[in-house]
Amino acid sequence: MQPILDYLAANEPRFVSELCDYVRFPSVSAQSNHSGDVRACAEWLASHCTSIGLTAEVHKTPGNPVVVARTARARGKRRPHFLVYGHYDVQPPEPLELWKTPPFEPTVVGRKLFGRGASDNKGQNLAHLKAVESYLKTGTELPCDLTFVIEGEEEVGSKSLAGFLKANRRTLACDAVVISDTGIPSLKHPALTYGLRGIAALEVRVDGPSRDLHSGIYGGSLDNPAWVLCQLLGGLRDARGRVTIPGFYQGVEPLSRFERRQLARLPFSEVAYRKFLGVPKLSGESGFTPIEQRSARPTLEINGLTSGYQGQGSKTIVPAWASAKITMRLVPGQLPQKVLQYAVAHLKKLCPPTVRLTVERGHCGDPYLVSPSSEMAQAGLRALQAAFQRPPLLMREGGSIPIVNDFKRILGVDTLLLGLALPDDNLHSPNEKFDLDSFALGSRMSALLWPELTAAVGK
Ligand code: BES
Ligand code: MN
Repeated sequence: MQPILDYLAANEPRFVSELCDYVRFPSVSAQSNHSGDVRACAEWLASHCTSIGLTAEVHKTPGNPVVVARTARARGKRRPHFLVYGHYDVQPPEPLELWKTPPFEPTVVGRKLFGRGASDNKGQNLAHLKAVESYLKTGTELPCDLTFVIEGEEEVGSKSLAGFLKANRRTLACDAVVISDTGIPSLKHPALTYGLRGIAALEVRVDGPSRDLHSGIYGGSLDNPAWVLCQLLGGLRDARGRVTIPGFYQGVEPLSRFERRQLARLPFSEVAYRKFLGVPKLSGESGFTPIEQRSARPTLEINGLTSGYQGQGSKTIVPAWASAKITMRLVPGQLPQKVLQYAVAHLKKLCPPTVRLTVERGHCGDPYLVSPSSEMAQAGLRALQAAFQRPPLLMREGGSIPIVNDFKRILGVDTLLLGLALPDDNLHSPNEKFDLDSFALGSRMSALLWPELTAAVGK
């Protein structure tokens, strides 16, 4: 391993400048005016993969391309095969005025690299690519075959990836998937993530009068859509922070003592957390710790809320409509489609006959949970320990990577989640950054992982 670790250390400045090149592409999948940038980013990534010694192609899909890069297969030998998944698309950078440095002009300050996508997910997938480069460029034989699948639609629901997996089931057949697209509590607390929440999205719209009306002349004689929407949303949760949609908690598996103990081992200070979030007091479902609330319990969040006049000054109207964007985060046992059905039924029941209600169902993703004691998980924990030189923890994440369930369904394999993002990386927020120590340790971890995982497959 030493030549590999030396190579990683010696080439670090170049790796950082390559990450800057990668982050410079505004590969925003949610915004159609960036589709050219998305494609250019895929092309750059594929040629970067070629330059480090992989065979790479930009694979067309009905949406954004998938970059596929492989190591050369050892002749005559059937070796374990692992898939490394990541995404090169990024969240929109808005609101731009809150960025201290422009989102697509990557800027290194000390050991932090600022830019949209630096952590989610370009830095994390590049860390794996640099690990493979270190094998290939030092002439060290990899113990296994690797295929990188780096897609361009993760931030908008991975619509093309399942089709891509099905169409390429044979060449993608593998022993396990490895993903670094989650977080760890700190560089002193490396962790393996064994669970992700699922997601179910919907949009609620309340229509009232055929146009905005003078609120003095007409107000009082008809229902106000903004009021009705507030009442509807208010009826979705109770004072104890529980979601009140009948059936919502159906099937939710209770947390085992083992799990509660693992989650309680994660570093956490209520005061520091509250300050970090900028809220005067924390709030959540009663009976659970904040870590449990945000990673292992289901929730319903309002992501967007719109009605009436939003401009400067006052405008006295009864708005013609009101709407809200909602996502529910789900845990094992819950079925996204069922939960959506329950939510729609409940909203319909709550809605008065004075307005017209439309509920549009959005994207869905199943929750994910794997055993942290499998041979694969143990291999991951050993690689974390060796790279970070600290005992790794076990954690669950509140975020979602719906595609992991497609890996299970279509390729029949489990996913090892080895995230490298830190809590203050500002994912999806202004001033996103990636920690360069996390980048370096992540590359080491990846390099050390392949022998461990290869050995685990045999067991
Ligand atoms: N990388 C995140 C997911 C994530 C981040 C999981 C941190 C755990 C910890 C991913 O890019 C993401 O944001 N996913 C979306 C999925 C959605 C668009 C279906 C999410 O969780 O909101
Ligand atoms: Mn991501």
